[in-house]
Amino acid sequence: MAYAIIGSGNIGSALARQFARKGINVLVANSRGPASLAGLVAELGPTVVPATLEQALAADLVILAVPFPKVPDAVRGAGPWQGRVVVDATNAIDYPAFTPKDLGGRLSSAIVAEAVPGARLVKAFNTLPAAVLAQDPASPGGRRVVFLSGDDRAANADVAGLVDRLGFAPIDLGSLAAAGPLQQFGGPLMVHDLLKRG
Ligand SMILES: NC(=O)c1ccc[n+]([C@@H]2O[C@H](COP(=O)([O-])OP(=O)(O)OC[C@H]3O[C@@H](n4cnc5c(N)ncnc54)[C@H](OP(=O)(O)O)[C@@H]3O)[C@@H](O)[C@H]2O)c1
Repeated sequence: MAYAIIGSGNIGSALARQFARKGINVLVANSRGPASLAGLVAELGPTVVPATLEQALAADLVILAVPFPKVPDAVRGAGPWQGRVVVDATNAIDYPAFTPKDLGGRLSSAIVAEAVPGARLVKAFNTLPAAVLAQDPASPGGRRVVFLSGDDRAANADVAGLVDRLGFAPIDLGSLAAAGPLQQFGGPLMVHDLLKRG
């Protein structure tokens, strides 16, 4: 399965670090183009593959690690999604207040899903601060938990499998409607850094 991360900032580079730690190739793209990723490759090694947006958006599993308002622009050049998996790591936040964006009662994942019609959307990697997400997920106490949710069970399983391969302990919370209010910014699972023992 080909993996890609859109965004190479705090969250994108934290995730790229985890792929590199496990020796898993991942395409990484941002708004400035592949040449801007030379420093990240120098730091993390050749498993980080600089890509154009178009190349990254063609992967089997695409992780969105861009600011929430930038999602439509970031995915504009994607071909048909045709059931490919999109992982929504975004949080809908108003700055500088750092409060949940008023989405008129809608889930942020529902708005992201509209931008990627035909994709199977899974929300994951959004509840931990980037500096925590970047750390080795394994510790003597257990493995760091990553929550995920989505409406397609097979896509959830694919993302849980990736989370597991990266060394985290996945917890599948179920559907977006059920889990979104818990998992999205402002919800009770935000910034809970849990370890799964054993
Ligand atoms: N920071 C955290 O602790 C944290 C925790 C959980 C979730 N999140 C969420 O994760 C997302 C990313 O946050 P961040 O802190 O990583 O942001 P960031 O450091 O500002 O990085 C944003 C990245 O998105 C890229 N980008 C912006 N517009 C784009 C576009 N139109 N096309 C392609 N790439 C584009 C930027 O490209 P350039 O590099 O070229 O500018 C940059 O690499 C946000 O939705 C945030 O709410 C953040």
